[in-house]
Amino acid sequence: MAFKHFLSVADLSVDQARDVLLLANDVKVNPGRYRSALAGQTLAMIFQKKSTRTRVSFEVGTYQLGGHALFLSSADIQIGRGETIADTARVLSRYCNGIMARVYGHETILELAQWSQVPVINGLSDLEHPCQTMCDAQTLVERWSPAGTFDPDVVRGKTLVYVGDGNNMAHSLMDTGAVLGMNVTIVAPHGYWPDPNIVGRCQALGKQTGARIAITDDTVEGVRDADCIYTDVWASMGQEDEHAKRLKDFNGFIVDEQMMARANSDCVFMHCLPAHRGEEVSAPVCDGPQSIIFDQAENRLHVQKALMIRLMGQGA
Ligand code: CP
Ligand code: NVA
Repeated sequence: MAFKHFLSVADLSVDQARDVLLLANDVKVNPGRYRSALAGQTLAMIFQKKSTRTRVSFEVGTYQLGGHALFLSSADIQIGRGETIADTARVLSRYCNGIMARVYGHETILELAQWSQVPVINGLSDLEHPCQTMCDAQTLVERWSPAGTFDPDVVRGKTLVYVGDGNNMAHSLMDTGAVLGMNVTIVAPHGYWPDPNIVGRCQALGKQTGARIAITDDTVEGVRDADCIYTDVWASMGQEDEHAKRLKDFNGFIVDEQMMARANSDCVFMHCLPAHRGEEVSAPVCDGPQSIIFDQAENRLHVQKALMIRLMGQGA
């Protein structure tokens, strides 16, 4: 069941993805069982970008498992003065039991993993945000399982429609749907479609797991039959200069009441947060009865505890 690093949902087999979700649910329901799972262990957390949920949920989660987390802003460690990723990874491996990093280029997380002697977790790169989408899967499984149960198979045949930029979130959602057998449609304007290599790998895996992975720019047909509509900011961290252009290019892609009305009647709304109400989502949808955004945010804690137990825990 072991996997060495967690850089992408694509690192997980079907069985490993299901196992992480089942463990995340057990950690949530029975937190007392895991109070010593990381006793005496330390997680180094490198941040090249800002964060609220990722930083706090990893720090709190490590503490709740009996371990300790170190917040390392890249501006404050020697990476900020040019020390190499390879040297940083080798040094941190001598002190710490795991490294979580939020980075710009995905190659940085790959390089950390190449040189690290301890597990590396991707806390977001420009290409992928796998911790987020595993917690999203946990949230959907909770929502769709019969009361009192938690069955990862419940997402099979369901359809998640992501409306917005074909970015890190779109990529990791496709990977997550593909591994769990959930259909994922990306609705994005031309020019903002997801990476074709990731689309290809997800479509190939989806053929085995029963997941249909589709891309369209049609905001009407694309959301029909959606069981979940998901969105994210139109300008990600590092793209702030493109904000004005993107506001124009994404005109018509806001998730609002009219769009939600075109989906299934029990469709839920999701957002990884932070949200920009009035841009990618209307305030009534973001804060309305179909929205499960804060359940998602909470589950960051539980899924990351499960990932750390599997990667760093004794006898995991
Ligand atoms: N969703 C998410 O990763 O939030 P932060 O940027 O606040 O960590
Ligand atoms: N796509 C967003 C996700 C933030 C959690 C970003 O990369 O900024």
